[in-house]
Amino acid sequence: MMIRPTTDQDVDVFVETLHAAFGRFPETPADDGGGVWWSALEMDRGLLAVAADGRPVGTAGAYSFELTLPGGMVVPAAGVTAVGVMPSHRRQGVLRAMMRHQLGELRARGDFLSVLLASEAPIYRRFGYGPATYTGRLTVPRHQAALVLPRAGGTADGSATGSDSGCVEVLRRTECVGILEEVYDRYRRAQPGALSRPHRWWALGAGQPPVSPAPRYVAVHRDADGVPDGYASYSLGESGTLTVDETIATDDSVFTALARFVLGHDLVTQVVFRHVPPEHPLRWQFVDFRAGQASNHTDWLWVRLLDVPRALTARGWFTDGELVLDVDDPFLGEHGRYVLTVRDNKAHCVPTDRDPDLSLDVSDLGSIYLGGTTPSTLVRAGRIRDHRPGAAALADRLFHAGRPPHCLHWF
Ligand SMILES: CC(C)(COP(=O)(O)OP(=O)(O)OC[C@H]1O[C@@H](n2cnc3c(N)ncnc32)[C@H](O)[C@@H]1OP(=O)(O)O)[C@@H](O)C(=O)NCCC(=O)NCCS
Repeated sequence: MMIRPTTDQDVDVFVETLHAAFGRFPETPADDGGGVWWSALEMDRGLLAVAADGRPVGTAGAYSFELTLPGGMVVPAAGVTAVGVMPSHRRQGVLRAMMRHQLGELRARGDFLSVLLASEAPIYRRFGYGPATYTGRLTVPRHQAALVLPRAGGTADGSATGSDSGCVEVLRRTECVGILEEVYDRYRRAQPGALSRPHRWWALGAGQPPVSPAPRYVAVHRDADGVPDGYASYSLGESGTLTVDETIATDDSVFTALARFVLGHDLVTQVVFRHVPPEHPLRWQFVDFRAGQASNHTDWLWVRLLDVPRALTARGWFTDGELVLDVDDPFLGEHGRYVLTVRDNKAHCVPTDRDPDLSLDVSDLGSIYLGGTTPSTLVRAGRIRDHRPGAAALADRLFHAGRPPHCLHWF
């Protein structure tokens, strides 16, 4: 078996091999190549595993994304995708070989972070990835949908949750792709854990609704000056269930206005909000606290650090402190001990031979990196070892993200 890079000429064999790995048949692409998720594949970043008899048996790809870190820093991140091995060639080390090859290539390009969505949770931890953001669904029966009025004076940061001076307009997805792209881009730059959606994704309709051209109505919110600052893409099913694919808002009051809009839609028995972050304020905005029924809570973005000091110094930090981290990377056969020093919101991270405060696997460092899981949770789970009293509590304060990370981009 050998692994080789792909080019644009390989797109058919790549897509067919990948679909066979998933046991599916590819849909027929539109004449312009748009409307199917794989039209945005970056074939110059793909890998094909080829058996000794010349048959393709495995695929892996990577997208060139940007990831927003705690503190609002926007950095490049490889979005690992299209991973599949033919059913006839499974559990023979094909994926392991592709992962080794890919991680080497990512490092050679200068990437210091890679991310992915896992089809099954047991697959990727062995390769150094840890679950880092979470998402879920909120189902709201229409008769319980009343929202509380905001307390006069607004929120501490000056945003007036619920007091909306803007308006909502209903458009078809086809009419407003440019608006969606622009609003999503503003939103993702301020949201830790969010990924960019490169222009060609929107242009080609590559992804899930509302990126894909599936028929959708979109409630577009505009501010008092008429500038779009949020949207909710939705569809109404026969049973009276209104499903919101995603609610994108550049601030909380816009989210509330969009929620109020879909919850007030006629001929609806319940509203399902997909992709709501676990700690989202929406649940607290119902008069009836049990109105928002949470389900489908799941991991979303998995993060892998390819260069620990670079990754740690790239994100924003909010509390001063110093920690010695002993980091194991068994897949790459590496081990490093680093002193992380945060002063005035900036981190320095250099190798050290001091005694460690915490010992952890690189996959667990990926899980705490964006602030979506606290180090003390992983200490309590037995995944991270703390070597002195107070080390986990200090790590909790240091790794805190300010705003919880969330990602809803599917790739
Ligand atoms: C997941 C998949 C790519 C694994 O490929 P593979 O070539 O069989 O994996 P490998 O033989 O290299 O396995 C490497 C290790 O991962 C483990 N592993 C692989 N897939 C696993 C799974 N689905 N669940 C649990 N463990 C898995 C193997 O047991 C092996 O463990 P070991 O190192 O302890 O021996 C393949 O089963 C597949 O294509 N599945 C369907 C499509 C899919 O889910 N793709 C992933 C998209 S995110």
